[in-house]
Amino acid sequence: MKLCPGNGKTLPADGSGVFSGKILAGRGNEKGASMGEGINDYTKNIVDLRRHMWMAGVEVELRRLIWQIAVVGKYISAKIHESNRKLAGFKNIYGEEQLALDRVTDDILKNKLHHSGFVSHYASEELEDIVAIGNGQEKYIVTADPLDGSSLVDTNLAIGTIIGIHQKSIFDCGRNSMVAALYITYGPLITMIYSAGKGAHEFVLDREGEYVLSEEKIQLKEKGSIFSPGGLRKDWTDEHLKFIEKLEQDGYKLRYSGGFVPDINQVLIKRGGLFTYPALKKSPQGKLRLLFELQPMAFIMEQAGGKATDGKQDILSVKVTSVNQRSPIYIGSATEVTMAEQFLSN
Ligand code: F6P
Ligand code: MN
Repeated sequence: MKLCPGNGKTLPADGSGVFSGKILAGRGNEKGASMGEGINDYTKNIVDLRRHMWMAGVEVELRRLIWQIAVVGKYISAKIHESNRKLAGFKNIYGEEQLALDRVTDDILKNKLHHSGFVSHYASEELEDIVAIGNGQEKYIVTADPLDGSSLVDTNLAIGTIIGIHQKSIFDCGRNSMVAALYITYGPLITMIYSAGKGAHEFVLDREGEYVLSEEKIQLKEKGSIFSPGGLRKDWTDEHLKFIEKLEQDGYKLRYSGGFVPDINQVLIKRGGLFTYPALKKSPQGKLRLLFELQPMAFIMEQAGGKATDGKQDILSVKVTSVNQRSPIYIGSATEVTMAEQFLSN
C-alpha cells in the first residue's frame, strides 16, 4: 500500500479558537453574518446545526453544504420508513425493495448535491467511479456511503449515512484532502455527528425537523471498556486473534451490532473503546472502504481525541489510489488503538 508523504498539516482536535468562550456567547462580528439576529430568551438555549456552524466559523459554502446533506438525511429516513413498513403484501417482495433502497438513497443524495452549487464531483459506494456533477468550478468533492448497513433494515437495528468532504482531489491521503466529515444514524433517534476540523459535535433531529445540538466537542477518554470486532474469528490472523484475546482477558465487553455507523457511534458516545474490521487471512485489505467508510470516521474520531490506524499507519495518512480501495481498521480511544499497533507489529 502506498503511503502519503503528508504535509505536516494537523487539525486542532480540541476545536480551540473556535468559539469565543461559551457557545452562546455568539460571534456577531463575522462579515455579512446575519444569523445572530433573532436570538432571544426563548431561542438562546437551542442551538441548531446552522447556527452552530456559523458560530464555529465554518466557511460559508462548507456550512451550507453540510446543512444540505443533513436535510438529505431526513429524506433518506423517510425512504427507510417507506421501504420497511412491514405491511402485509410488501413483505414478500422485500428483497427487491431493499436493493432499491440503496439506489434510491444514492440518487437522492447525488441529485441534491448536483443542485447545491458547491460540489464538483461525487463518489459513492453505489457507483463504479467518481462522477462529475458540477461545472468544475465548485470547491468540494463529496464521498458517500449513502446507506451503510442496509441489510439490517428489516431487523430494525440502526443504520446510517457516511459522508466525507474533500478539496482538490480524493486521490491523496485524507489528512491532505479532507475538510469535513459527518455521519447520520437512523435509530430510535436520528442523530448526526459532524466535524469541520473544529471538534466533533452531535445533533439530534427533533420532532419539528430541526437538528438540535446535543453534545459539543465530544472528547474520548484515553481508554474505554467495549470492543466491536468485525469478521469471523476463524478468518482472523494470529496477531489479531492474540490482540482480541487480550481485550477479552482485560474484561472488555463485546458490543457488535454489525452496522458500522452505530458500532462507531457507540464508541464515540460512550467516550471510548475500539471498533475493528481487520485484515482477514483471505482478504488482507479487510472489508471496509477507505473513502466511503473509514476516512470520514477516522476524521471524526481524531477530532474527538481518538485514533484510527490500519495497524501500521494512520488511516488519514494512507494514500487513496483507487475509488474502491479497502483497508483494515482499528479505531477508537488511544490506548486500544496503540495496543493494536503493538500486537500487529509482533
Ligand atoms: O458496509 C459494510 C458493513 O455492513 C458495515 O456496516 C459493517 O461494519 C460490516 O459490513 C459488517 O460486516 P460483517 O457482516 O462481516 O461483520
Ligand atoms: Mn457500508
